Formats: sequence, C-alpha cells, structure tokens
Amino acid sequence: MALDLAIILPTLNERNNLAPLVERIEDALGPFGWEVLVVDDNSSDGTSDEARRIARDDPRVRAIQRIGRRGLSSAAIEGFCATAAPFVAVMDADHQHDPKLLAPMLECVRSGEADVAVASRFAEGASMAEWGRPDREKLSSLANGLARRLTGVELSDPMSGYFLLSTDRARSLVPRLSGIGFKILLDLLATSEKPLKVKDFPMNFAARRTGESKLDRAIALDFLAGLYDKSFGRIIPTRFALFGTVGALGVLVHLGILYLCLLAFGAGFTWAQAVATLGAMTFNFWLNNFLTYRDRRLTSVRKVLAGWASFVAACSVGAFANVAVASALYVRGLHEVLAAVVGIGIGSVWNYALSSRFVWGR
Ligand code: GDD
Ligand code: MN
Repeated sequence: MALDLAIILPTLNERNNLAPLVERIEDALGPFGWEVLVVDDNSSDGTSDEARRIARDDPRVRAIQRIGRRGLSSAAIEGFCATAAPFVAVMDADHQHDPKLLAPMLECVRSGEADVAVASRFAEGASMAEWGRPDREKLSSLANGLARRLTGVELSDPMSGYFLLSTDRARSLVPRLSGIGFKILLDLLATSEKPLKVKDFPMNFAARRTGESKLDRAIALDFLAGLYDKSFGRIIPTRFALFGTVGALGVLVHLGILYLCLLAFGAGFTWAQAVATLGAMTFNFWLNNFLTYRDRRLTSVRKVLAGWASFVAACSVGAFANVAVASALYVRGLHEVLAAVVGIGIGSVWNYALSSRFVWGR
C-alpha cells in the first residue's frame, strides 16, 4: 500500500503512552498507508528504547532519537524532513489528541479543500477534559488574538499541537522557520508568503494519559519570544536580544548590591564593586540559563557549577575588552557616553559569542 501519511509524535518522557497510542492510530487509520515517526529528545524514561521495541514488531513505526537537541518545534521539523509520505500530521503523544480526526483531516487536505487542517480546542463543538490551570484559558484567548494579527489567518486555535498539511509545503517553509519553542503551527502559518487556507476540526481535548505536561510554564514566554522573532528577529536575533535584556537587568542588580554593600555594610568601594560584579554575573548566569538558553539549560549541579565558572571567565574577558575599547575611543576624543556605549556593545557581543559557544554550547 502506498504511503499516504506520516504522523509525527514528538516525545519527552512518554514511554508508557506510546504503545497504546500506536494501537489507537492503527484503529483509526486502517485503510490508509501510514507511518509513525517518534522524535524523541533522549527522554530519561527510555521512550526511545520503547519506540525501537515497537518498531521492531511494526515497521510502520520509526524511532528518531535526538541527543543534545530539544524542542517540540524542532522535533516536528525533524519529522517533516525524515518522511517520504506526501502528507504529514503532528500530534501529541500523551493521548490528548484523538487519532480519529486524522482520516477526515487527511481527506480535507488531500482534496484541496484546505492547505492545513487544524484540530481545534476552541472551534464550535470542541470540548476540553481539563484546563489544568485556570489562567491558561485567558492566556490562550490573548495568544489567539495576537496570532490572528501575525498570520492574517482566521483560526480558532493557533497554538494547537495537532494539525496536518502536505509534507512538501511544510518542508518548503522549514528554511524560514524559527524552530524555537513549541508553536510550530503558528510559525508555519506566519512564515508562508501566501496566506494558507485553514480548516478547523473541533476536537475533544482529552486528559493526558500518564506523565506530565512540559509546556504549561513555558507557554507565555515562548509565545512572546516567537512574536519578537517574527517582527525583529532578522535585525537583532531573539537570543541576543534576551541576552542583552538580561545584561541590562544585571546592571540594576549590580547597582543594588553595590549600594547595599556601601550603605548597609559600610564596605569600601573596591570591595563593594567586586561583590557587586560577582553578584551581577551570577544573576546573569542564572537568568540566561533560565531564559536565554532555556532550550539548552544546564541542570545537573556539576554542569551548573562548571557553566557558572566559564561564564564568569568569559564575562571577565568581555569586561576587559569593554574597558579597553571605551578608553581607547575616549582618549581619541569620543564623548564619554558614546565611548562607554560602544564599549558595552563590544563587551556584550563578546560575552554573547563566548557564552553561546562555551557555556551553553554543545
Ligand atoms: N521531542 C520533544 N522535545 N518533544 C517534546 C518536547 C521537547 O522538547 N516538549 C514536549 N514534547 C512532547 C510531549 O512529550 C508531548 O508528546 C507533546 O510534545 C506535547 O507536550 P505536552 O507537555 O503534553 O504539552 P501540553 O499538553 O502542555 O500542551 C498542549 O497545548 C499546547 C498549546 O497550549 C499541546 O497540545 C501542545 O502541542 C500545544 O501547543
Ligand atoms: Mn499534553
């Protein structure tokens, strides 16, 4: 039978959900030629092993294990590029998405009725087993409004993780996708030059079967980063903008610690300045690890300590470059504020380049 549809299942610790899900997909897609691509980001619960175990009995299942990479969007992209099927669907592996919708979604896109079929939690007739957190609904409707502006497409659920489109179309958009975070559908729609025709399929968003959600906390943050990326990302890359913002906050932390040491503890200026510098670097390291490099976050105690030490080392060199360049410009007659700004700029680029490579590099 010809291969019609690839179903991409991005996974992070979904070991026990896989086998029952493949069974449900099999039930739902009987007459079609399909394959399942499990794209696992090296889950600690052995999801990749489980995927390979299933694949040995059923060659329609394929296991892709990624090591040192992270993210729902990039996992979907991996899948787009790894299948020969003419149509591709992305769906969650935790049973929140009902495979029964795959067949009607495929028919809709194959017949040319729409470019993208989206399973929607908010379309007329949809339902939701649980909201998890009460603020999530508000967040979602806010996000939906923003997304509508961004894509110019009327959609009831732009953050849906369950959709289907032609694989060629998906692949043709890949070079211009940001690939950060999880809002891959939004990314596809915003990237396409001609507005894509979308059809909503109301879904019953079920409760997750086992394991826990990985996205709840990251949603707002990711969404903002995505908006930024689409609007200004080509001028100043998102990661650098985050790095710079963290740096600016670090200056405030620096001044706070400095005054605390001077006024509350009566420390001498040099001591206060040294403590403030180290404090600000530590703060910057922590926030960059949490925010700027959240997709490469260092978590084990050993890695955090090593990362902190190399961050401090990198920033010290950056600070040196900053002072050297600013002084050189100042001596040559540049206004002191301009000289300082250029110094800060050069120091920041230096710190950013070194951190990306050596602290959070792979
Ligand atoms: N490969 C990979 N890498 N898979 C991941 C990653 C990752 O970094 N993070 C999450 N996943 C997988 C999960 O294992 C699951 O199969 C799917 O992506 C969705 O993750 P959940 O953790 O279950 O997300 P959720 O239920 O909180 O979020 C739902 O709502 C979002 C919008 O509000 C999902 O439907 C999302 O797809 C949707 O965007
Ligand atoms: Mn889920």
